[in-house]
Amino acid sequence: ITRFPLIPVRGVPLMNHIANNWDSIWAFRPDPSDLLIATYPKAGTTWTQEIVDLLLHNGDAEACKRAPTPVRSPFLEIFSPPPIPSGLDLLEKMDPPRVIKTHLPFQLVPPGFWENKCKAIYVARNAKDNLVSYYYFDLMNQTQPEPGPFDGYIHKFMQGDLSWGSWYDHVKGYWLEREKRNILYLFYEDMKENPRREVERIMRYLDLSVSDEVISQIVELTSFKNMKENPMANYSCVPSPVFDQSISPFMRKGEVGDWKNHFTPEQSKLFDEDYEKQMKDIDIPFRTLI
Ligand code: A3P
Repeated sequence: ITRFPLIPVRGVPLMNHIANNWDSIWAFRPDPSDLLIATYPKAGTTWTQEIVDLLLHNGDAEACKRAPTPVRSPFLEIFSPPPIPSGLDLLEKMDPPRVIKTHLPFQLVPPGFWENKCKAIYVARNAKDNLVSYYYFDLMNQTQPEPGPFDGYIHKFMQGDLSWGSWYDHVKGYWLEREKRNILYLFYEDMKENPRREVERIMRYLDLSVSDEVISQIVELTSFKNMKENPMANYSCVPSPVFDQSISPFMRKGEVGDWKNHFTPEQSKLFDEDYEKQMKDIDIPFRTLI
């Protein structure tokens, strides 16, 4: 397994299997029934995928298991040993409605999604927890660049020098387009606070109607504890040379505020000062920086 260097695409550092397939990714023609789940990595992608999948299958976990690939929603995101395919081939084999996951920032999402008026769910997570989660992920994912010491990683995060680029640009890009493109913009912290409310919000956005009982079942099946045990969700399907979960499990902690166990007061102060600058032009209601 090689930790390949990132390759910039229009200024955004991407993993090489994405950058090397860029022309076909940009030209991708989605079906109008396709649903996009977009996130900055480690913001709650898998959680949201699991909720959506269960909603589409009326809470039937067995039906979800019959999905065509163990790593669901493969768009641009296949973790197989190199050469890593882009996921486009697998998409062709999926039946509609396809749920397509991506970490691309808004400006790099293939324009066909918006031309076809596809629905899109974006999940954002507060910067500091997102950073900590990404740090552990980069330690365990042997195809990502080495994260190095935590202090240096904070600087890389602030500079957008990580795969998929800047967190700040990412959360802003989708926020600014959410009304025009009818994007459902969710927050990880809201999902933690009241998962039922957020599951119902997703249900309404998808024009689905499931019973209260099924909603309860979905909330239960998508609890951190249950997803940690679920091979459909915990990425145990990815071979250990790629994801070394002995270093850090994919389902690591699932908490709000874990950054407090990692940032020193000095690091936190520096980060907050930079955050103010980077976010001064926008008011996205993140609730949990402190
Ligand atoms: P931590 O590293 O903070 O534990 P993604 O799916 O975007 O890669 O995000 C992974 C992060 O979401 C991890 O965060 C993981 O534990 C957390 N997560 C996954 N499922 C969750 C759930 N059901 N409840 C809470 N957090 C969850």
